[in-house]
Amino acid sequence: NAYESLKSKAGNFRIGVATSSNKFNNAGYSQAMANFNYMVAENACKMVGIQPQQGKYDFSQCDAHYNKAKELGMAFRGHCLVWHSMPPSWFENLKGDALKNAMVDHINKTLKYYEGKIDSWDVVNEAIDDSSNGPQWKMRPSFLYQNIPDFVDLAFKTARAASSTTKLFYNDYNTEGIYGKSEAVFNFVKDMKSRNIPIDGVGLQYHVSTQSFPQYEKINDLIGRYCQLGLEVHITEMDVKSGGNASGQAKVYSEALKACLSNSCCKAFLVWGVGDNDSWLGANEAGLLFDSNYQPKAAYNALIETLGGG
Ligand code: G3I
Repeated sequence: NAYESLKSKAGNFRIGVATSSNKFNNAGYSQAMANFNYMVAENACKMVGIQPQQGKYDFSQCDAHYNKAKELGMAFRGHCLVWHSMPPSWFENLKGDALKNAMVDHINKTLKYYEGKIDSWDVVNEAIDDSSNGPQWKMRPSFLYQNIPDFVDLAFKTARAASSTTKLFYNDYNTEGIYGKSEAVFNFVKDMKSRNIPIDGVGLQYHVSTQSFPQYEKINDLIGRYCQLGLEVHITEMDVKSGGNASGQAKVYSEALKACLSNSCCKAFLVWGVGDNDSWLGANEAGLLFDSNYQPKAAYNALIETLGGG
């Protein structure tokens, strides 16, 4: 590489990327991916990847990502155990206790399989409703919540019983401080802590744009308050719709990383894809650190500087 790698600047801090194994054979993709020291599978470790049919566990796709991470000397993050969106259809069609038992079994089998390999998992993803605004949270009225009103508590208790060493995260979007949902999710997590639900960390997804992004003071304050609760924070899925403004995008990325590095409980920062054409946003949004030819962008250089203390 003609440019410096993020991992060479990161020390023990985890700087990560979401990947898809169908791109591993692309040379540009592979070279860009190797700049990070932390990996998450964009899709392969979801329930739909691991248990496409009830009871037929297939870890091969998730393993392919885990093994690539090990080959490149990267740590690996687990995403995600329980999510209302894109479930395998068999799971969504279960009711009552059958659904509850299937959720518990999936958490148990998956955490045990990856014990000692994956140190942090998103146990529950996106359970709070987008209409939540202010201190009082509202649960998303998903099939999970409708069948199992206490599914979040149950998922975390099951996870802790299955693995005493895995760090257990709650992960959600619009949680970064500019939206009303941020405060609702903060209070939701605080309430879990106060009731001794075994949660270790919170994932702030950080899907933002150059038009709408958190001010540094606000995100720094928010991460600090999570630290005071005794939680670990990860920025889990960052992308920034650029609107053609590469330098504005670089500033949004670098302020997010700076806020994370300024708080000792914020231990990881991950972007949601490698090159712009790999992004769920589509290449036109140019949301990531590498362009569609896997050349580093201004945002990449800004993160290098921020890691270097510059
Ligand atoms: O694998 C199939 C492929 O065989 C088929 O030809 C193709 C046709 O549509 O679909 C492929 O599956 C798609 C998969 O991505 C892999 O590309 C699914 O349809 C598609 O729904 C899936 O989208 C993912 C989405 O989560 C839903 O699981 C996105 O890649 C992924 O970026 C997105 O990630 C989420 C996080 O998990 C949670 N937070 C928000 C974030 C962005 O939406």
